[in-house]
Amino acid sequence: MSPEAPIHEAPFKVGLLGFGTVGAAFAELLQERADEIERFNGRRPVISGVLTRTRGDFEEILAEADIIVEVMGGIEPAREYLLRAMRAGKDVVSANKQLLSQHGEELFETAREHDVRLRFEAAVAGTVPVVRVLEESLSATPIDRIHGIVNGTTNFILTEMTHGSSYAEALAEAQRKGYAEADPSDDVSGRDAAAKMAILARLAFGTPVHLDDVRYEGIEHLHGDDLEYAREFGLGLKLIGTAERIDGGLSVSVYPTFLYSGHPLAAISGSFNAVTVESETITEITLSGPGAGGRQTASAVLGDVVSVMTGGARPPAPPLPLRLVEDVQSAFYLHLDVADRPGVLASVTKVLGEHDVSIKSVVQRGMGENARLVMVTHPVVESSLRTAVERVGEFDFMRSTPRTIRVIEEEFV
Ligand code: HSE
Repeated sequence: MSPEAPIHEAPFKVGLLGFGTVGAAFAELLQERADEIERFNGRRPVISGVLTRTRGDFEEILAEADIIVEVMGGIEPAREYLLRAMRAGKDVVSANKQLLSQHGEELFETAREHDVRLRFEAAVAGTVPVVRVLEESLSATPIDRIHGIVNGTTNFILTEMTHGSSYAEALAEAQRKGYAEADPSDDVSGRDAAAKMAILARLAFGTPVHLDDVRYEGIEHLHGDDLEYAREFGLGLKLIGTAERIDGGLSVSVYPTFLYSGHPLAAISGSFNAVTVESETITEITLSGPGAGGRQTASAVLGDVVSVMTGGARPPAPPLPLRLVEDVQSAFYLHLDVADRPGVLASVTKVLGEHDVSIKSVVQRGMGENARLVMVTHPVVESSLRTAVERVGEFDFMRSTPRTIRVIEEEFV
């Protein structure tokens, strides 16, 4: 061999579990990028086996592969395959948010025990590299709070609704574009976002967080007119995940939430995702980018494969439990349909005041014999707000059940 001849290292063999939207896009992207990855890595990634419902044998794929990439989704058999791969000493990459949010500790523990890598950037916020930033760049930063738009489908639907589309039209379009889950009720119910927030909270706060620990609500019950009224207060509506330290405990939730335009998440539209990390040390950092879609997610999965090839991060350290806090302070938007007669506003504000609910802004619109009262409160403990609203709902002048939506008050710009 002449001294100039390139040294060809063995290919880096990828066993691919799942060949749906993300799996097929991953295989295509890997082929497109293989030359470049080989150029800076010395090894060429190749797909050595594919497992689908109808083809492939897991044992053969495992024996052949240097790494297992799981993009099949669902809990079983994905959990079993990943555990078996790690026990066999193989590094693994997964995009499976439901699995990581329900069996994360078992998977992390197995990765630590067998000294293998478990990478999962694509499980949260698509291409936005928030997992790596929390694990590496911000590992020395004491994080106070994370807010995230972590579901592309619902952000797309809310954006389309502000431009006049109906909920059903916007959801059908999100499905057509490949953003939505196979069962889109996971998206619109907030469950998909809750799984992602559980994973982020685990990384940011080093405590075990299970999907069941996350309180969540989706966007199915929103009223289009809430979006309209809120605009008068300069508010835009997003499905926001929040993980925050409160009095030595932790609260993790996902709710439809109004934001003022100065909040970094207010400008995130369409299927984009974004995560804002807040800490006294750094003020805030916002990362944003495509949050859904086959090719976009595949690019995060391939990034994880390359990270493993180059010796990337170890699994998170064993967790330290934190108490979960449920009764959290927030500002609220209140929507009340009332009879338009003397004393109504006074009665409402009296009850709110008795429960420490302080009003920041109020708009009343007459509608014949009735009126619509829309208010934004200052931050108040949620249980006080709920009790006050329940009492307001009992007045005989109420014309429909009061509606409440959380409001984030902070603005950073
Ligand atoms: N259905 C998910 C979403 C895909 O809309 O965000 C990415 O996890």
